[in-house]
Amino acid sequence: MQCVVFDAPGEPADVLQCRQGQVPVPDSGQVLVRMTASPVNPSDLTFIRGVYGIAPQYPQVPGFEGVGVVEASGGGLRGRLFRGRRVVVMNPSGGNWAEYAVVPETRVIPVSSVLSDEQAATFFVNPATAWILTREVLRIPQGQWLLQTAAGSALGHMIVRLGRHCGFRTLCIVRREESVESLRQAGADAVIVFDPDHADAAELREQVLAAVGEDGVRYAIDPVSGRTAAAVIECLGSGARMLLFGSLSNEPIPLVSRQLMQKDASVSGFWLGNYMMHRSLLFRLRLVRRLTGLIRDGVLHTDIARTYALTEVTSAVRAAEDSAVTGKVLLSCR
Ligand SMILES: NC(=O)c1ccc[n+]([C@@H]2O[C@H](COP(=O)([O-])OP(=O)(O)OC[C@H]3O[C@@H](n4cnc5c(N)ncnc54)[C@H](OP(=O)(O)O)[C@@H]3O)[C@@H](O)[C@H]2O)c1
Repeated sequence: MQCVVFDAPGEPADVLQCRQGQVPVPDSGQVLVRMTASPVNPSDLTFIRGVYGIAPQYPQVPGFEGVGVVEASGGGLRGRLFRGRRVVVMNPSGGNWAEYAVVPETRVIPVSSVLSDEQAATFFVNPATAWILTREVLRIPQGQWLLQTAAGSALGHMIVRLGRHCGFRTLCIVRREESVESLRQAGADAVIVFDPDHADAAELREQVLAAVGEDGVRYAIDPVSGRTAAAVIECLGSGARMLLFGSLSNEPIPLVSRQLMQKDASVSGFWLGNYMMHRSLLFRLRLVRRLTGLIRDGVLHTDIARTYALTEVTSAVRAAEDSAVTGKVLLSCR
């Protein structure tokens, strides 16, 4: 089979190769999936760079998310039931950027025929994170402001549309003027351009307070880290909650503890994989049903920029981090 492989951590465009490999064989409790498509997510790129928190096993095939059809079962009940069905493939150790992948049978989710392959390929990571961050963890009340950084991302657009759908207001921080218009069109209540290389935290605070009022924001989410996250902490109001869920800047946060102490504010981390590990089967089933409806209705759908063949993986990973490319990049695994 054709698969994308890396033998050592590094810049994705430098270390990834498309090669021939053996079709993997499922063990008991696993299924073999003929992959259809898989997105290039920031987590995949962080994994290839060797800083994700899960160690690659070389030669490693990347790809945590995707869609495919169950071709064979290693012997478990679910695997036998799902044979021939189109499934979302949540691969916990990577491996979806290939014609075939083997995953635990508990990590495939049969997907409704109302969703296209493109929406099924991007069914879980961002839609589930958008829902869980805002509705399950922060539980943002109607009318309250949510501040989000890197708001021009696929996830950022979903959260803006979810805010419209559920009734919370979104204050979006982006680093480039070019990201403003599409967020306004998606329904953002306010958009601020902030680049820590060209502005300081006091300037951001002034603009945020002008938008939300002198009390500051109660709810904030940040996947950027570094000076951007530190500047957002200065915008928090009394009793605020802020969730950190990414490290796009690759910088540590220069935290002034007094900023949290005096406001009784809290900052904590969020990782979808850990969160889901502790949820019941009923919660998961309800979540899948909810996400299917919200994707179908356009609230949590993913805009696709372009689909590349596995042989074009170098162009695909470059496009995924190119600010001029809007939307999610997919790999076609056929
Ligand atoms: N913790 C979890 O469980 C979890 C789950 C899902 C997603 N996430 C995280 O959520 C984030 C968004 O994911 P996505 O798939 O929506 O991403 P995406 O569509 O690929 O977009 C990435 C965005 O990040 C922005 N960005 C990159 N580097 C930046 C920096 N140094 N400072 C500010 N902005 C920067 C880009 O801005 P430009 O447009 O200006 O280039 C772009 O808008 C990622 O960090 C991802 O890892 C975390």
